[in-house]
Amino acid sequence: MKFFVDTADITAIRDLKELGMVEGATTNPSLILKSGRDVFDVTKELCETVPGPVSIQVMAIDAKAMIEEGLKLAKIAPNIAINVPMTWEGLTACRAFASEGQMVNVTFCFTVNQALLAAKAGATFVSPFIAQLEDESMDGMQLIKNIRTVYENYDMKTEILAASIRSVNHISECARNGADVVTAPPEVIKAMVQHPLTDEQLGQSMSDWEKTGQQIA
Ligand code: E4P
Repeated sequence: MKFFVDTADITAIRDLKELGMVEGATTNPSLILKSGRDVFDVTKELCETVPGPVSIQVMAIDAKAMIEEGLKLAKIAPNIAINVPMTWEGLTACRAFASEGQMVNVTFCFTVNQALLAAKAGATFVSPFIAQLEDESMDGMQLIKNIRTVYENYDMKTEILAASIRSVNHISECARNGADVVTAPPEVIKAMVQHPLTDEQLGQSMSDWEKTGQQIA
């Protein structure tokens, strides 16, 4: 499963990249706002920092304007993936981008039917939002399972880019249920390494080693 980092914080991405934990990045208007930077500048630096796709959202509502915005964004770098909303206008723009070989991510996906439409529109990625479904007392992980089943049934090539990831359990469950990609905040990815028993065992081994009075020299 590929790890995309859900952030516009270049430093946080560099830390993870050094460990080989970054295959892409996703941004959204909130993350661009948080960065305090010009969208073109920060997206360009993200594309230079990340080895794979960098997803950047168009903000127009109609397909024609989405395509115009997307073409401007696509000029930033070859690893740009244009983020379009799950609307008929967004799917229209998706089809236009896909027909030109431009990577496109259809976002704001909350149902299997929406994921089916994204695949039929030629989306490179579809982004089902897990935590936002759970916020509404719905089963976000069941959506991942169901999209995976449907895509397998018809050999659909669109990649499931699981988004709205807020816990380490989301990441492991996405892996268990066949998401192609998770996009997670850097701190959630880093938290995957933690377990109290790991800390306990490390402490115990260090304590016993100290008692041997030896050194590995
Ligand atoms: C992708 O970038 C999505 O906008 C992001 O994963 C949403 O996460 P949130 O539901 O925690 O805001």
